[in-house]
Amino acid sequence: MTSNNHTGTNNNNAVACTKANEETHREFTSRLDFATRAIHHAQEPDSATGALSTPIYQTSTFVLEELGKNKGYQYARSHNPTRSALEGCLASLEGARFGIATASGLAAVSVVGSLLSAGDHVVVGEDVYGGVYRLFEKVLKRYNLHFTYVNARELSEVEAAIRPETKLIWLETPTNPLLNLADLKAIGEIAKRHNLIYAVDNTFATPYFQRPLEFGADVIVHSTTKYLSGHSDIIGGCVITDREDLYEELNFYTNAAGCVPGPFDCYLILRGLKTLALRMKEHQRNALAVATFLEQHDAVEKVFYPGLASHPQHELAKRQMTGFGGVVSFVVKGGFENAKSILHSTKLFALAESLGGVRSLICHPSTMTHKPIPKDVQEQIGIVDGLIRLSVGIEEGRDLIADLEQALARTTQSIDRTEERQLVGSRK
Ligand SMILES: Cc1ncc(COP(=O)(O)O)c(C=O)c1O
Repeated sequence: MTSNNHTGTNNNNAVACTKANEETHREFTSRLDFATRAIHHAQEPDSATGALSTPIYQTSTFVLEELGKNKGYQYARSHNPTRSALEGCLASLEGARFGIATASGLAAVSVVGSLLSAGDHVVVGEDVYGGVYRLFEKVLKRYNLHFTYVNARELSEVEAAIRPETKLIWLETPTNPLLNLADLKAIGEIAKRHNLIYAVDNTFATPYFQRPLEFGADVIVHSTTKYLSGHSDIIGGCVITDREDLYEELNFYTNAAGCVPGPFDCYLILRGLKTLALRMKEHQRNALAVATFLEQHDAVEKVFYPGLASHPQHELAKRQMTGFGGVVSFVVKGGFENAKSILHSTKLFALAESLGGVRSLICHPSTMTHKPIPKDVQEQIGIVDGLIRLSVGIEEGRDLIADLEQALARTTQSIDRTEERQLVGSRK
């Protein structure tokens, strides 16, 4: 079978290169800026019809020209042209040669898990997405794999957790939901010193704001469900690498396990990518305004957003990110009851899991996204009952702040009423 390496060198729907020495469209687009690559790279007009928009190749199989000879595609679990276009574009945005699209973000994590063999050990940054924790603890552990969770803000903890059988370092930065950062470069150096595979979940920052490969990461994972598709209408994921040896293994597993997305979802993610640069600027602008508003509100105990000067790792954020993203978390005074009151009172922020879409969402990590993590572990890492996570969308910022203001005002009243009751009680 003709190989398709997802790098933009698959010729099936490439613009015909008329002269042998003429650079291909993909070679040309690979040198352009981020926003241009998101729209053009690996998305040449369809060679068969001239269709400008990458077609949805809704087919399970491809007819062979003769035995042993195909046109670059044979069976859609292995390759599909819509998926190839997406994979080429995603790889380019992270500055890599190889991309693999998967059926979900967790499928992408599983694909990286396939690099491990029984007995291997993984060092994990402790506040990972609850579903990742569940996959590690409830599934991969059954295959005699071992995981140590560390505070990745402390480099000494990361290094101290490494054992002879350690194979992989797994990080999220910024983390979900506490927006902690890990020093990408310093941990990259640790990984290199110990000859470990270094994997980073870059879902929160997106390649628009952070490119971990530039700091030594070997593998990047995304839930494309989030910012990359951007409209809360698909579930997807991807694995990106610039290492050919890893790509071969990761791609082998993806085909063997069959955890691939359908062409329509790939089309929607490609469509989302075209506005990623624009959307991320707006997400960040609104998130910073929301975080600043929350920080000065009386009912709020603490705000987590790497773009705030008060964030303990703000300087690191400025060093390794070009922007701070659209997720803001905060702890409301008065614990669960007041958190519940806010979660039930917002009108624009919809009470729902997930993040990264144009429409704002609000969630309660402890009982929603991070429920798979046992309560005592949650509390240990700071996922307390009063913690609320906002996915700040790209609506008008003033409207979002007004929505939070009215929801917080109810809380303030209930805090006042509680205080009043306590006062009355103490007078009796
Ligand atoms: C940081 C992070 N990684 C991975 C995932 C899993 O992605 P998916 O829901 O697409 O499987 C999520 C989901 O919320 C996430 O927030």
